[in-house]
Amino acid sequence: CVQKRIFGAFNGGASRFFSSSAVSNSAKVAILGASGGIGQPLSLLLKHNEHISTLSLYDIVNTPGVAADLSHINTKSKVTGYIPENDGLKHAITGADIIVIPAGVPRKPGMSRDDLFNTNAGIVKDLAEAAAKYAPKALLAVISNPVNSTVPIVSEVFKKHNVYDPKRIFGVTTLDVVRASRFVSEIKNTDPKDEKITVVGGHSGVTIVPLLSQLNHSFTDEEYKALTHRIQNGGDEVVKAKAGAGSATLSMAYAASHFTNSLLRALHGEKNVIEPTYVRSELFAPDGIEYFASNVELGPNGAEKIFTLGKLSDYEKELINAALPQLKKNIEKGVKLVVG
Ligand code: NAI
Repeated sequence: CVQKRIFGAFNGGASRFFSSSAVSNSAKVAILGASGGIGQPLSLLLKHNEHISTLSLYDIVNTPGVAADLSHINTKSKVTGYIPENDGLKHAITGADIIVIPAGVPRKPGMSRDDLFNTNAGIVKDLAEAAAKYAPKALLAVISNPVNSTVPIVSEVFKKHNVYDPKRIFGVTTLDVVRASRFVSEIKNTDPKDEKITVVGGHSGVTIVPLLSQLNHSFTDEEYKALTHRIQNGGDEVVKAKAGAGSATLSMAYAASHFTNSLLRALHGEKNVIEPTYVRSELFAPDGIEYFASNVELGPNGAEKIFTLGKLSDYEKELINAALPQLKKNIEKGVKLVVG
């Protein structure tokens, strides 16, 4: 219909990610931190998602306004806004199929993601406590940094409440994948949608490991190292350019919308939905690293299958070796916050 075509055009690149197969429009998606730099454009993109029947927006401020604004968009889903008053968080997440968490402060120039721990860890822990109580079966996608630590925090909170299912908790690393495909396409003069790049490890600096050797491209040594460096530090480009006004929000909203849509497609029974994401993983558990990002097949109950890394170049093996100790530290820090 005409209306659909208009929205398809408006939504630009994001629409190609949305499955055209007929699925029921029945999911409730809750966004916690919905009034923020990521939360608002993410809510806008998800208002356009046909799999969603209820879009539930929670933040400590401004969600009634954001929800009222979005609710005038003529797509089918219903938008509701909640603030902490009157048990807002409980109502926002009760019955949610998916909870996406972009709540917390972003970086300023010169800060690492780990520098956000002191503020964001407590915010994520409190939100996880509520999710464990009121929506323990939801698929939970954590955007708040430092992701390497916030995913273990959520997991430990769920363990404490005896509702832990490792298949249902995800760290969103999709922006690294989005950046990788864009940066490679710039060098190779290709369409980014054809550049499927697996990014593994975690989501900060040296823990971000793109597996460029698995592409059908040949790179000079210089290109290969420069690209890897750019993908690992892509976030810094944005933090620097925003000069104190925050970190990536629009590209992150796009990436999170893509990841949420993949969860929705899997929830509705679509097969072969595969995304790199940071999850509880056996891949490096024998080395004491219990969380790791790699390609994961998604299904109605969350992570169905975790893929091994495949063939690595010597350089990528070095990158993994550099990532592991950092990941271990980030994970231990998150676990300690909850377990003590
Ligand atoms: P922002 O400051 O613009 O928005 C954060 C929102 O969280 C605000 O609206 C704030 O009111 C809300 N908030 C704070 N405490 C809350 C609580 N207890 N409950 C609910 N909401 C609460 O920040 P922005 O730019 O949206 O970034 C959010 C987070 O996402 C940051 O931690 C940032 O580092 C992270 N991020 C993650 C990326 C990733 O690839 N995973 C990429 C970019 C940012």
